[in-house]
Amino acid sequence: LASDPALVERARKAKERLGDRLFVLGHHYQRDEVIQFADVTGDSFKLAREAAARPEAEYIVFCGVHFMAESADILTSDAQKVVLPDMAAGCSMADMATFDQVEECWDALEDAGLADRVVPITYMNSSADIKAFCGRHGGAVCTSSNARRALEWAFEQGEKVLFLPDQHLGRNTAVLELGMSLDDCVVYNPHRPNGGLTREQLENARMILWKGHCSVHGRFTAECVDDVRARIPGVNVLVHPECRHEVVTKADFVGSTEYIIRKLQEAPAGSSWAIGTELNLVKRLAGMFPDKDVTFLDRTVCYCSTMNRIDLPHLVWALESLADGEVVNQITVDPDTTHWAKVALDRMLALP
Ligand code: 13P
Ligand code: SF4
Repeated sequence: LASDPALVERARKAKERLGDRLFVLGHHYQRDEVIQFADVTGDSFKLAREAAARPEAEYIVFCGVHFMAESADILTSDAQKVVLPDMAAGCSMADMATFDQVEECWDALEDAGLADRVVPITYMNSSADIKAFCGRHGGAVCTSSNARRALEWAFEQGEKVLFLPDQHLGRNTAVLELGMSLDDCVVYNPHRPNGGLTREQLENARMILWKGHCSVHGRFTAECVDDVRARIPGVNVLVHPECRHEVVTKADFVGSTEYIIRKLQEAPAGSSWAIGTELNLVKRLAGMFPDKDVTFLDRTVCYCSTMNRIDLPHLVWALESLADGEVVNQITVDPDTTHWAKVALDRMLALP
């Protein structure tokens, strides 16, 4: 749908009134009507770095989801205010690991006498208190751009990794990038006593994967890959590492949203690509590269419903409120959580 011209004009005017006091960050999964107002677009890693690198911006409007805005608040100074245009823009994957559940898991590892051999690594897609948990227990954050380096770092610190909350990113990275076997991985189910695992299973595992997943990327199946290969001879299958292991194994290329964009930029004209990631980005890529055949890996519609909550009316409301001196939907993380989450984020940002 084309953006409402009146709203476009209002967003443009509000941005103009705010000038350099405002910086707008936009994740690649955002709608076109929103992304056109982003000063910078990127994957979670790039956006975290961009937020940290803007000390002059009084207001950071984060067009993305809640955990991203929290990370921006953690990485910016107390004087800066981070705004999420719609507070309902959460992430179902991040919600799959609560602080209490993770504490319970750690207690189970302590009872098994294993906790001091385990390094907790959390995917960026987690709440600030899970990041802080990792900071307190000698762990770090990772994103889909640096999961391999984060795991290599973790295995220099300890023998085992507790990987939160995306089992697929953890498994895909461990097996396909670090050369582990599927038997090195176990899945901890927070809804079962002791995660549904025996002491022996925990003892033998190198990767303890949290039972979480992305509801968007979880929809791609191995059959989708077979189907697209049958329909489009010579197609390159390019997927995000949040997809299931069997999908990633069948794909030709796997990487973060930033990687997916770069791969298409470098692709020769006339080549065909089936992309397994969120639909707003795939549609945008098809428009950006008309000389290449870009298709969606699934045959059904697959937007991230929470990313899509940030729409132009919410953005206009947030920008006009700020321009009028009213800070709405500010995301704030308490000082203790900020301190420990920053420890975990800084360990990630310091990775070579
Ligand atoms: P990246 O942009 O870091 O690849 O993450 C994808 C995602 O699901 C964000 O929610
Ligand atoms: Fe969360 Fe998946 Fe949406 Fe990303 S795409 S915000 S991981 S639900």
